[in-house]
Amino acid sequence: MAEEEAALGFQRGFLAGRRVAELPWEGLEEVLKYSKDSSPFLAILQKTVCHPLCLKYPPSVQYRRRFLSELIKKHESTSSEPLDQLYEALGVVLNCEETTHCYKNYLLPSGDVITLHENIAIVSQGTTGLVTWDAGLYLAEWALENSQVFRNRRILELGSGIGLTGIAICKACHPREYLFSDHHEDVLQQLSENIHLNGLTLEPESCSHRREESQNLQHHPKDDLEDSHIRIAVKELDWNLVSKEELAKLQADIILAADVVYDPEISQHLIAVLQKFPKDSGNRETPEVYMAFNIRNPDTYHSFQRQLDKVEIGWEMVATTQKNLFPYDQHANIVILRLHI
Ligand SMILES: C[S@@+](CC[C@H](N)C(=O)[O-])C[C@H]1O[C@@H](n2cnc3c(N)ncnc32)[C@H](O)[C@@H]1O
Repeated sequence: MAEEEAALGFQRGFLAGRRVAELPWEGLEEVLKYSKDSSPFLAILQKTVCHPLCLKYPPSVQYRRRFLSELIKKHESTSSEPLDQLYEALGVVLNCEETTHCYKNYLLPSGDVITLHENIAIVSQGTTGLVTWDAGLYLAEWALENSQVFRNRRILELGSGIGLTGIAICKACHPREYLFSDHHEDVLQQLSENIHLNGLTLEPESCSHRREESQNLQHHPKDDLEDSHIRIAVKELDWNLVSKEELAKLQADIILAADVVYDPEISQHLIAVLQKFPKDSGNRETPEVYMAFNIRNPDTYHSFQRQLDKVEIGWEMVATTQKNLFPYDQHANIVILRLHI
């Protein structure tokens, strides 16, 4: 039982590409105290490198090498006989060519899986948008814990990157509509591919992010929509260029963004966008805004708050519980703010 649990801990972390040092090695050491053979290592191998998801959507070659080398090191430290299966697995990855892309697989509590195809480098093609960031994982976790916030609502995400947060919400929170957006051509392309990869369907009129005019979701009366059908679209939306009219047409109930405030100039543009959303008008309420920050530099974070105060956008910190359902850095200082625009 303990052996199975330890192996499952490795499975969740490994498939999601959690840093090798952050995999549950201590749990394995506990199990090894009571184990008389190498079975805990074989169980881990089955649940990681030999797992069907890894065979179909593998983490990077470099990651698998690092992981297997560490597993072998751990096994050698038990002074058991060398375990052929570990060396064979390492032999296979040593023969693989290194790639610039990898897959990450996130196991959801429902048993469902999110698979993302992403870049290995944190900045590539001049953008930070081709990898998943910790604040995006954190926001997804909060969304899953608070799915009632999103149920049957129209959601617009700013700076979606390659889609983790939105795909998680579409899979687990039953929104009515989800509009992913970003400004970078390659990011939009990868985002659309990831949406398809996860069995979600883009609205026919929004399938290609290049067809500018047709990307807005056409709004249907509530009654026309089946409860289970989520309207999903990808839109090219640049914070520096988007107009008030364009934002009003989207009729968002909720605006989300994760890890989009990383320098003061960017915050100014974002705040300008937030000011352009329609306020309470007729029967439409002002959208709710939730933003997740990874506070790497407190000055940037506080300067964003000062800029919000200046334009009288209220903000409050949202209460969260760290479940570490997704593999964000447990020591990162991540917060979610609710903004009152
Ligand atoms: C650090 S990434 C975060 C991606 C994703 N939200 C996540 O948490 O993984 C920042 C994202 O903001 C997007 N972005 C930056 N400037 C933008 C702008 N002016 N308009 C729209 N998107 C922008 C980038 O393309 C990138 O996808």
